[in-house]
Order: sequence, then C-alpha cells, then structure tokens
Amino acid sequence: MTKRTSVTKAVMPVAGLGTRFLPATKATPKEMLPVVDKPAIQYVVEEAVAAGLDDVLFITGRNKTSLEDHFDRAPHLEQKLAERGTNELSRVLTELADLASIHYVRQGEPLGLGHAVHVAKGHVGNEPFAVMLGDDLIDASNPILPKMLEVLEEFGGSVLCLMEVAPEDIHLYGCAQVVETHIDDVVRVTALIEKPKSGQAPSNYAVIGRYILQPQVFPILANLGTGAGGEIQLTDALAQLIDHPTEDGGGIHAVIFRGKRYDTGDKLSYLKSVISLALDREEFGPQLRTWIKEHLAGDK
Ligand code: G1P
Repeated sequence: MTKRTSVTKAVMPVAGLGTRFLPATKATPKEMLPVVDKPAIQYVVEEAVAAGLDDVLFITGRNKTSLEDHFDRAPHLEQKLAERGTNELSRVLTELADLASIHYVRQGEPLGLGHAVHVAKGHVGNEPFAVMLGDDLIDASNPILPKMLEVLEEFGGSVLCLMEVAPEDIHLYGCAQVVETHIDDVVRVTALIEKPKSGQAPSNYAVIGRYILQPQVFPILANLGTGAGGEIQLTDALAQLIDHPTEDGGGIHAVIFRGKRYDTGDKLSYLKSVISLALDREEFGPQLRTWIKEHLAGDK
C-alpha cells in the first residue's frame, strides 16, 4: 500500500552530462548505469512511488532517450518474452512502464540544479513538490520521504534531508546550520551554504538529494545569479527562503538521516554502492560475500 499525501509530484533533474563517469557516459546517461540489475534512476522512482509521489517529472537534456524508453512500454519485447514463456520477465517490464505517471521537460542548457528545478515550474503549479537527485540512493527498508512529509505537515515551509559527513567532505555538499526542535532528529535550518570553502562550513550537516519545496521557490530561482561553481544553485534560493514567513513559503526544517545512503555520483562511490546493494540481496549476497573473501585472500 502506498500512502496518499498532499505532495504527489517528484521532480528529478537528469540533464547532467555525467562527466565524472566518462567514458561510460559518453552515449549512456549516468542515471541509466546499472546498480545490480536496475538503472540507478529506477530506485529513485520506486522510492517516490512508495511514498505516494507517483507523478514524476524528469528534467532531461540531450542523450536521455534511453531513460525515456526505460519507463515506457516495450510491446515487441514484452510479446517476445511472453512467446518464450518468460511471463515473469514480461510482467516485470509491464509493471515498470506502469510504475508512475512520467513526464519530461528539457532543460535546454545545464546551468545548475537551481535552473533545473525552475524548469519544473509549469508542471508543478502552485503546490508543494519533491526534488529527488539520482546520485543519492536511499535504503528502501528505511525510507526518508515519509518522515520528511510528516515534518511538512508539522511545520510547513520547505523540508530538507541532512546527513552528518566527515569535516573533510563537507565542501562537496550544501551545508546547513541548524537548531534543534522539540522532535528528535528534526531541526530548523538557520543558514545554508553551497559547497563551503575550508573553514567556512557552519556544521558537518550535508544536504542530501531529497527536498520538499514550496512553489514560492520559483520566483526566487528566476532571479538568482550564479553561485558556487558558476552554476545557479538551489541551495542559494533556499537560503533566501529561511526568513520568509511560513504563509509565504518560508521556514526550512530538516530531518537528520541516519540510515543507509548509497552515493552513485562518482566512480568509486558507485562501485561501493553496487557492491553494498548486491550484498544485501538474497540471491547474490551469500555467494558474493564468499567470493570477495576468497578474492581478497588471494590478493595477499
Ligand atoms: C547537489 C546540491 C548540494 C547537495 C548535493 C547532494 O550538489 O547542489 O547542495 O548537497 O547535490 O548530493 P551536486 O552533487 O550536484 O554537486
């Protein structure tokens, strides 16, 4: 059973060039790289649907046709599989195509995450919505979106997801300064800095790629200049919303995530994610564990 909530739309920016993954991503979108037996982006769509967000908007760019094909029906392939008696696989493919109501809009130019989110304005309209980044996979057995939706009910405004990272890694993320609330692991955000330089981070709390936002972020994004890395940054727009009154879309709270997150954003993290997720799977875990032990013993 999926839970119905007031938030039904998930925006997934997928227009990036995937330069950190070249040459694998020369002709294949990085979101389509397989993580065990599914493309990375499928985990994210499944996570959205499980939380009741079954309207998915992909912000796409060039070279993303395979992503569109992946979530579409493939009648020829389904028929061939049925003819061969592999009905189970045929069913898996049909269910995949029916997973969510999928929409696409092109970003045009990859000017940054803030720009990608602004492109969603027409589809989102005047309601709260989620933004989910494909580089972050969240353990399905301990999901974060339902907790974020509860925080939205309680406080309104925007809701972020934060994770404590090592001090030497905080420059890779948006960073939040926070104060406690009356709820455990729920904080109020008092400042946000995108990719802080050494010594400028107000905490070790990194912004993870799950956001629940209010439509008031759109006019701010429309007028925002470039920030860190010369890109239009979502974090910079959110920083402006911190002090807005709640009825004007303001106030930002965050859930501190203490579960498992798999980063697929660079080659080494991606390899670790594939291995961890495969080890968690019943059909691969035991054999893979034994093989890794033997392999490492052989190295010695
Ligand atoms: C983006 C956001 C950053 C956030 C990160 C999470 O950065 O700009 O604030 O911490 O995602 O993965 P990117 O990884 O696209 O550079």
